[in-house]
Amino acid sequence: MADFYKLRIKDIYKETKDTSVVTFDVPDALHEQFKFSQGQHLTLKTIINGEDVRRSYSLCSSPFDNEWKVAVKEIPGGKFSTFVNSTLKTGDELEVMVPSGTFGVKCNAETGKNYLFFAAGSGITPILSMIKAHLAAEPHSTCKLFYVNKTAKSIIFKEELEQLRNTHFGRLEIYYFLTKERRDIELFNGRFDDNKMSVLTNTFIDIPDTNEVFLCGPEQMVNYVSNYLVEAGLPKENIHFELFVSGLSEEDIKRQERLAKQEVEGTEVTIIDGGKEFNFTMTKDFDNILDAALNAGADLPFACKGGVCSTCKCEVKSGEVEMKINYALEADELAQNYVLSCQAVPITKKVIVDFDV
Ligand code: FES
Repeated sequence: MADFYKLRIKDIYKETKDTSVVTFDVPDALHEQFKFSQGQHLTLKTIINGEDVRRSYSLCSSPFDNEWKVAVKEIPGGKFSTFVNSTLKTGDELEVMVPSGTFGVKCNAETGKNYLFFAAGSGITPILSMIKAHLAAEPHSTCKLFYVNKTAKSIIFKEELEQLRNTHFGRLEIYYFLTKERRDIELFNGRFDDNKMSVLTNTFIDIPDTNEVFLCGPEQMVNYVSNYLVEAGLPKENIHFELFVSGLSEEDIKRQERLAKQEVEGTEVTIIDGGKEFNFTMTKDFDNILDAALNAGADLPFACKGGVCSTCKCEVKSGEVEMKINYALEADELAQNYVLSCQAVPITKKVIVDFDV
């Protein structure tokens, strides 16, 4: 079931010119449901001009602080982000889904790990939550953050990061890179490229001593940096990422085109949700299971509808589907037959999918 809870805005402030930080008032009775781990996100919902608009935002607070905070950067033309940055105020209410998502690794006080983080712009939000959590819960762990922004003024959470660096002296290193302002040290000007990565991996990063890497930002940056690190010797399974999708790869476009021609009309779909079964027959007006099911009256969880957030994840119990794009599920989830219903196109005449996962 798509469980949304009405939460009051406890506080909202501008962190930078175009980014608002929203703190939710989660009543004691809901603390258990809203428990989260670093790297998870909240899906927010509101009605804007009569339209049900939903977006997912990563929590930037620490799971150990009993605080639920997200940062929303205004995207030109973005319905939800504009609403948050220009209309939403303290005391208002928003519908919020319980935290979800699989970005992040468990804290373990016994082990000392060395974490690397690469973030660009508002990609810092899940990363900040992870840095806070690992520093607080793992006394022997260290964190290094490589953080790209346009200008010094647009650095989101600069103050908070500096405070963390002071509080956990010697355990957090931060390197800022600016793309639209020049600084004296050339290394810190511009995006990550071969020159920079070569200096970073030879000087600041000890590859054999690195345990986990997290990247969050535009697809191009995430792909480039993770490939570089794999070539430099970091095991792929220790590199985790979350993408801001800016465009589709050639391969994605081809698959989408092929699946657009897939005959879906007449497919019998069974949805299992909340322990109940719901059956409908797909028509050719829909090219994914989520939209067809919502139209048939099912109440299912979703947010981005772009293959990014994984809110619409379900398990294929019977039949086969193919996904148009997948930016959210990892190889082990695919191996367990999980799919993103917003991207899932049936390729057999009968499909059973389970949302109780
Ligand atoms: S709704 Fe976000 S991946 Fe499907």
